[in-house]
Amino acid sequence: MDHSRHINRAAEILKSSSHTVAFTGAGISVESGIPPFRGENGLWSRYDPTVLDIHYFLKHPAHSWQVIKEIFYDFFGKARPNPAHFVLAEMERRNLLQSIITQNIDHLHQQAGSRRVIEFHGTSHTLRCMRCNRQFLVEQINLDELPPSCSSCGGLLKPDFVFFGEPIPEPARSDSFNEAAQAEVMLVIGSTGEIMPASMLPSMAGEKGATIIEVNVEPSNFSNSITDLFLQGKAAGILKELAQNLALSL
Ligand code: APR
Repeated sequence: MDHSRHINRAAEILKSSSHTVAFTGAGISVESGIPPFRGENGLWSRYDPTVLDIHYFLKHPAHSWQVIKEIFYDFFGKARPNPAHFVLAEMERRNLLQSIITQNIDHLHQQAGSRRVIEFHGTSHTLRCMRCNRQFLVEQINLDELPPSCSSCGGLLKPDFVFFGEPIPEPARSDSFNEAAQAEVMLVIGSTGEIMPASMLPSMAGEKGATIIEVNVEPSNFSNSITDLFLQGKAAGILKELAQNLALSL
C-alpha cells in the first residue's frame, strides 16, 4: 500500500475503534528538541546510563545529579510539545483516544493538553525526598547546589522518574496493563521496544487482539512481530496527516 493509503487505512481503523490507547516513546519528543536514548544522536551514545542506575545514584548522588541536571533539566526543561503531542490531545477531546501510556518523563503530553496520561517511567516534573518522602515541584528546587536536599529534613532529593534497577511505580503499572488489555487499537509512536517491562504493553495488547498501528522513522522491535500497520515517518508529520484524515481542527 502506498503512504497515503496507509494513512487513510489508519484513520478508518481509529474512527471505528471504541477503545484506543497510545503508547509513546522518546521518538515522539525528538521534534520538541529532546534527543532519543538510542539511535542517531542518542543520549546513551553520549552519556553512560549507569548514572541512572539507582545503586549508583545512592553511592554517588553528586555525580549522578550533575548528569541528570545536564540531560533532563538544563536543556530539556525548556522543551515544548510538538504537533504530535497536540494531535493526541485533540484525539482525546474528540473521544478518538482513551488514554496515553508514555515511557517519557518530559511531561509534554500534559503540556499539550492530554488528560489521561499514564507515566510508566514516572516524571522529571517532581522530586521526592528519600528520607521523609516529601514531594517538590522541580521549579521549587535550586539545582545549582547538587545534590539537592530536602528543606524539611535535609534528606537527598531524587527525581520522580524510574531509575534502572527500580520497580515500575503503582498505580501506573496496573493502569497501563489494564489499558493495554482493553485496547481495541494501540497507536505505538516512537519507541525501539527495547526496554522491559514497558515493551510488554504493545505485545500484550496485540496478543489480546488489538490492532497495532506503529509510527516510527525506522522499524523497531515491534515492527516485524506485532505491528499491523506501519506508518514510516516522523511523528509530527504523520500525526498531522492522521489529523487531516480524522478532520481534527488543531
Ligand atoms: N518520529 C518518530 N519516531 C522517531 C523519531 C521521530 N521524529 N525520531 C526517532 N524516532 C524513533 C527511533 O527510531 C526509535 O525507535 O524513536 C525511538 C527512540 O528509541 P529510544 O531512544 O530507545 O526510546 P524509547 O523506546 O522510548 O526508550 C525506552 O529506555 O532508556 C530508557 O527509560 C528510558 O523510556 C526510555 C526507555
